Amino acid sequence: MGETYRKPHAIMIALPYQGHITPFVNLAIKLASKSFVITFVHLEYIHQTLFGSKNEADLFSKERESGLDIRYTTISDGFPLEFDRVLHSDEYWECMLRDFPARVDEFIAKTMDSEPFLTHFLIADTFYTWLQTIAKKYNLINVSFWTEPALVFSLAYHLDLLKENGHFPCKDNIDEEINYLPGVASISSKDLMSFLKETDETTIVNKVVPKAFEQVKRADFILHNTIHELESEILSALNKIQPNYAIGPINFSKNLAKTITNKSLRAESDCINWLNSKSPGSVLYISFGSFVQTSKQVIEEIAYGLLLSEVNFIWVVRSDTVGSGDANILPNGFEDEVKGRGLIIPWCDQIMVLSNPAVGGFLTHCGWNSILESVWSGIPMICYPLSYDQPTNRKLVVDDWKIGINLCDGGSIDRNTVAEKIKSLISGPSSEAALKHEVKKVNGILENALGADGSSEKNFDQFVNELKAKLNCGNEEVSTI
Ligand code: UDX
Repeated sequence: MGETYRKPHAIMIALPYQGHITPFVNLAIKLASKSFVITFVHLEYIHQTLFGSKNEADLFSKERESGLDIRYTTISDGFPLEFDRVLHSDEYWECMLRDFPARVDEFIAKTMDSEPFLTHFLIADTFYTWLQTIAKKYNLINVSFWTEPALVFSLAYHLDLLKENGHFPCKDNIDEEINYLPGVASISSKDLMSFLKETDETTIVNKVVPKAFEQVKRADFILHNTIHELESEILSALNKIQPNYAIGPINFSKNLAKTITNKSLRAESDCINWLNSKSPGSVLYISFGSFVQTSKQVIEEIAYGLLLSEVNFIWVVRSDTVGSGDANILPNGFEDEVKGRGLIIPWCDQIMVLSNPAVGGFLTHCGWNSILESVWSGIPMICYPLSYDQPTNRKLVVDDWKIGINLCDGGSIDRNTVAEKIKSLISGPSSEAALKHEVKKVNGILENALGADGSSEKNFDQFVNELKAKLNCGNEEVSTI
């Protein structure tokens, strides 16, 4: 009798934020194209945000038509659909920490029961605190997917070392060199992730991160949405402990069918005609990502800085940019004053905007996806990190790769500096040419990594081969059920 072939089946659960969902969706499609069966799981409220009340709507219908076996389903997070998860994010994550694992457990058991002829395994975002516990219970291989830079991963992975050296929690006002982390040549304590600098260790993020990183130490495979050449020493150091694979930026993988339409959680404004009316390199694009908030004062200084700079701009001002829910966060009369040269929108197709020839710079909060998208489009950045991983990401952009400048070198933001930095990036002479030159170089590294012989493609193939071997799925050619 030949060996029985059971197809490998990934049950994938993404974190419910735009910057995590997009890489997860693309990872699902990429794995499906390597003959994996996928069950992609969204939280019910994310499905509702994407499709409204169309319950039967399916994120992957086009992929299935093209022959990929991607199933799509939802799981409840236990909250009513209308609950505001951004406004009450602490309460939300306390419950996610306490109650969600039991829901996932039940869901996994049901899914496994309903598909007895597949070899199941789990893929979840590294920030989830239940992946290895549930995988162990059901004897499943598990893959942790990290959607931020390897530098940030490494810092969180070595929390014990940071603690031993008095850098976790780390006082916000100290500037000390940290040079004891494997693979991290040197980083200043001021560039640590914001949550490492919180003196209150009981904040929700300080409950989630240590727990999640205890779990990841038992992961069978760790995937990173980064590029080996850009973070090689860190990844090599991590590889001495566990199998890590840099497979990014997955959103730009060459062989992905660009069919997913409903991946954006917000309605996109069309700015193409406006952009096409502007001269090459003359527009600054401004966005602070999908969920972080800032103060009305910061928004005002940026607005007055834009007025003084006289440059063209597109500014994404989300309705929840300022926590108060205040819809009028721009100075009175601002929109009239910038008519013709400034476009203020609630959301857009960011990659389409960044890759338009009219765009010459990106004022960004340094979310990792935004950085990758800027590099992919060859656009230098002005960095204004707000929280989480963003201060650490800024170090990579400004200090290490030299493809961006700081918006303000001290703590506070003022309109004159904003105007000066914007003007110099969009229409300044020599130093900005150097930035553009460097961003082209990093863009080349990214393009090479994604080529057929590039590191990200090779790492992905190696991951797939090692995963299939570990899953012990048998040989597809031998026999099928
Ligand atoms: C956060 C973290 O800061 C980030 O580093 C991490 O990897 C994911 O969680 P976020 O703050 O949303 O993410 O920033 P970012 O990673 O840049 O992701 C935002 C995404 O939203 C990008 O893919 C961007 O293209 C998209 N976006 C943003 C739009 O499509 N339209 C917009 O108008 C603004």
